[in-house]
Amino acid sequence: MRLYIDTASEETVREYRSSGVIDGVTTNPSLVASTDVSYRATIERLSEAIDGPVFAQVIADDVEGMVAEGRAYDSWGPDVIVKIPATPAGYEALERLRAEGIEAGITVVFSIAQAVLAAKNDATFVAPYVGRLEDAGEDGIDVVTGMQETFDAYGFETELLAASVRTRAQATKLYRAGVDAVTLPPETLEAQFHHHKTAEGIAGFDDDWGDRSSPVADRSGE
Ligand code: E4P
Repeated sequence: MRLYIDTASEETVREYRSSGVIDGVTTNPSLVASTDVSYRATIERLSEAIDGPVFAQVIADDVEGMVAEGRAYDSWGPDVIVKIPATPAGYEALERLRAEGIEAGITVVFSIAQAVLAAKNDATFVAPYVGRLEDAGEDGIDVVTGMQETFDAYGFETELLAASVRTRAQATKLYRAGVDAVTLPPETLEAQFHHHKTAEGIAGFDDDWGDRSSPVADRSGE
């Protein structure tokens, strides 16, 4: 299972990288636009900050433009994965980029049918948007669970990457469904490290230990 962080902030990636739980970074044009550096510099800096994939979305909406951007992104880091929106032009651009051996997949996905078409085109990943499905009144978890069942039934190797995951409850349901990969915004990831009963339990242990010294107080290790 892979866990990604959804951010364009190099500082945030460095902060969470040390926890050891994140495998890569997803971005989108809105996140990159919120930085004060260029698209290329953002992707290069993220690539330096993590030993894992950095997802970068194309801006063009025509096939030639998407392919040109995808080729360029591919050179911006050792493990850049090109994100292409789920449009007819996007599927064609995906086909072209994958034929060249470039890692690329389909994003802004809302249906099992869109996901299947991407997997048939040998997409590296498919990113359904759970939160936005629920904004539209659909059961986002059920749609993604159905995608995972479909991918498993066909034996597709495309990674199912649940995106637009905004709450700890949504993330937990995706884990229980055994989804291949989940990307979380920093605040949702942060929330997963905490539980009020954990804080309460630790406070109790601290109280009972009182002012006794650390078992390795001299820190000599001997
Ligand atoms: C995926 O990579 C997208 O960046 C992201 O998950 C979208 O989330 P949102 O719907 O909360 O903007």
